[in-house]
Amino acid sequence: MHELAQAPQLGIGLIGSGFMGRAHALAFRNVGGVFPLDRQPRLELLADHPEERAVAAAASLGFRRATGDWTALVRDPAVDVVAIATPNRLHAPMALAAIAAGRHVYCEKPLATTLDDAIAMTRAATAAGVVTMVGFNYLKNPLIATAREIVRSGEIGTVTGFRGIHAEGFMADPEAPFSWRCEPEEAGGALADIGSHILSLARYLLGEVESVCGRLDTIHAERPLPGGGRRAVSVDDQASMMVRFREHPFTASLSTSWLGSGRDMQLAFELTGTRGALCFTQERFNELRLYRAGAEAGRGGFTTVNAGPAHADYAAFCPAPGHQLGFNDLKTIEVRRLLDAVAGRAPSDMDFAGALAIARAIEAIRLSSAQERWVALDEIPDA
Ligand SMILES: NC(=O)c1ccc[n+]([C@@H]2O[C@H](COP(=O)([O-])OP(=O)(O)OC[C@H]3O[C@@H](n4cnc5c(N)ncnc54)[C@H](O)[C@@H]3O)[C@@H](O)[C@H]2O)c1
Repeated sequence: MHELAQAPQLGIGLIGSGFMGRAHALAFRNVGGVFPLDRQPRLELLADHPEERAVAAAASLGFRRATGDWTALVRDPAVDVVAIATPNRLHAPMALAAIAAGRHVYCEKPLATTLDDAIAMTRAATAAGVVTMVGFNYLKNPLIATAREIVRSGEIGTVTGFRGIHAEGFMADPEAPFSWRCEPEEAGGALADIGSHILSLARYLLGEVESVCGRLDTIHAERPLPGGGRRAVSVDDQASMMVRFREHPFTASLSTSWLGSGRDMQLAFELTGTRGALCFTQERFNELRLYRAGAEAGRGGFTTVNAGPAHADYAAFCPAPGHQLGFNDLKTIEVRRLLDAVAGRAPSDMDFAGALAIARAIEAIRLSSAQERWVALDEIPDA
């Protein structure tokens, strides 16, 4: 019988145990079995509100302790990394308190509800020298890394265009209730909530945004309140954008909508090059469609690249191609990158500065819509 030495540990404090909090917890539980790590995450403390909710979630997700007070969590000496999976308005106070206590921070998107907060968070993290990661998990898809390799290697020639969309239908019914996602103070609206994902994907593939021309539309001017009555809606249901990138001569067209009837997760793009094209949708995210020009007459068209062990990170989950990863696996890859950054192995690939770049693009699109003009990113404050 062999007794194994205990690997050094890293204390994880998780705030929020809803949809994303649970995804964070599953990823922290799973990551050590999938990837080699310098320090194993220890699920130390979970905070939620009210306290009974924290206790129940901590028990089911395998945390050692629970609290109803998130300020105690960020100060707790056994917590090294604070994971924030709460509604948007709480990201800034929680992250700033965690950074002040010297903790590394893993924060859900969007980074903050105001650009000022996003700038303050980025400055604080830089000054403190802590590691940060923001939950733009769709960028962690091995096939999205492959798409970037194809673009950068010139395999499909020079990039000539990009059409991107993030549409979901969860607010398509005009009677879908008013929620925190409809609050302007919560960075509500389709653009910040889901449009931020297609902006992050376009930036990942094409580089930094130079200027934007956008239009935000509120289609349903009021919605029912869960407790009765109705409330006016001022945030956008959908947004259309023309986007120019520093490194490319074309104008990309992007759109987002939470009125996308029939769509559950249409985070999708078509990217054209002089010698080929790429086509992708998150609804079938283990497939990348690749077109290469030059086929003989009658044999042209897109082929399907199936995700497999030849693509970054896939092999850690499964040795066989085509067997497919799932949403929570993307979160596990994200947590691996966070832990590697904490270990000093590689910089975070979506730190607060990266998320601020997306927040600045969103701010520019809002300004463009309000003033009905093109807006250069240089006009928007930066950290
Ligand atoms: N990366 C993604 O793909 C993705 C998907 C969905 C949501 N999100 C983001 O995740 C965040 C959370 O969204 P969600 O869908 O998980 O919401 P949710 O409503 O399911 O969960 C929010 C959690 O925060 C807790 N909470 C609220 N106030 C609190 C407080 N004061 N102290 C402690 N806990 C508190 C709630 O009790 C709940 O457990 C949002 O920022 C959202 O934009 C990201």
